[in-house]
Amino acid sequence: MVEFKGLNKYELPQLPYRIDGLEPHINKDIVDVHYNGHHKGYVNTANTLIDRLNGIIKEEVKSYDIHGVLRNLTFNINGDKLHTLYWNNMAPEGKGGDKPGGKLGDMIEQQYGSYEKFRKIFTEAANSNPGTGWAVLAYDKENSNLNIMTVENHFMNHLAEMPIVLILDEFEHAYYLQYKNKRADYVGAWWHIVNWDEANKKLERLL
Ligand SMILES: [Fe+2]
Repeated sequence: MVEFKGLNKYELPQLPYRIDGLEPHINKDIVDVHYNGHHKGYVNTANTLIDRLNGIIKEEVKSYDIHGVLRNLTFNINGDKLHTLYWNNMAPEGKGGDKPGGKLGDMIEQQYGSYEKFRKIFTEAANSNPGTGWAVLAYDKENSNLNIMTVENHFMNHLAEMPIVLILDEFEHAYYLQYKNKRADYVGAWWHIVNWDEANKKLERLL
């Protein structure tokens, strides 16, 4: 007989560098608000919703809006996971930036002509995105494509089976304290701290 425990909680992962590790491109005040405020908030809210869902499963909660609970849970779980990808997708200056190598570098050249052309199109996609979204590079095993995609809000179930290799947060909380309304400057600065090693390792695990 297996013991019934209910659904497990989420935990805020550690930042892979110091809170000021991305300066000057993303300053420590932004990382502080973004990580200790927003990201932690998604984890805490997801856990509150899991408590509620466990109450529903155990029939302790009698009156509930299952669509509302699950929609909110989806938003917050994805908020946690997308931010974890985003943090790990960057590295302090000197360790990040430059160009992608390995299979990732080869595939970008094969499918986009050159790194420069890929970067231009990804930047255009990022700059055209509505205010609450993400620009991502996702790998589709079905045809081996590296797809540049835009994701609105945190509702990304449509990316099922297309793991994210590269991700850029474009919510105002990701840049406003430092770049104000100049989001394109934030996008431009971000290329200096992309962790290509991590992105390439991720892709190579998927191939
Ligand atoms: Fe964010």
